[in-house]
Amino acid sequence: MRELRDLFLQELADIYDAEHQLLKALPRMAEAAVDAELKEAFSEHLKQTQTHVDRLKQVFEKLGHPAKGKPCKAMQGLIAEGEERIKEYAGDAALICAAQKVEHYEIASYGTVCSWARLLEEEDAEELLNITLDEEKAADQKLTDVAEETINIEAAEGEAEAEEEEEA
Ligand SMILES: [Fe+2]
Repeated sequence: MRELRDLFLQELADIYDAEHQLLKALPRMAEAAVDAELKEAFSEHLKQTQTHVDRLKQVFEKLGHPAKGKPCKAMQGLIAEGEERIKEYAGDAALICAAQKVEHYEIASYGTVCSWARLLEEEDAEELLNITLDEEKAADQKLTDVAEETINIEAAEGEAEAEEEEEA
């Protein structure tokens, strides 16, 4: 169990850093979003992300370990790739794609640390991490809803217009 505990702490440090990276990226994403609902979703998730950081601090405290991040390369990559794509393809479709990849990374990470907290019988930590896991899932669902309602339709319309122009 000693090894799992170390791994657990490592993963928490990874998420802690990832959430801090998101605190910086989300305002830029909200600014880049065209659709009002998407803009709102990013602003809302920014507030939640601050709560996620605070909750992680509580988890570290419960574990008697200083809250400290370890550079999360995966999140750096996800954000960098997302920004590159958004520069190339201005529009909400590219933005939402990047955001959902980020959410899925977080869901995977929180899902894992929740299971490990359970195995390590860290009930308080498990409970806190579970709340965040549910919020990440809800944020991902929100993005799917916005995408299906508006963005994919707009992207398809844009495509159709481009085709019409080509034909004319
Ligand atoms: Fe989060």
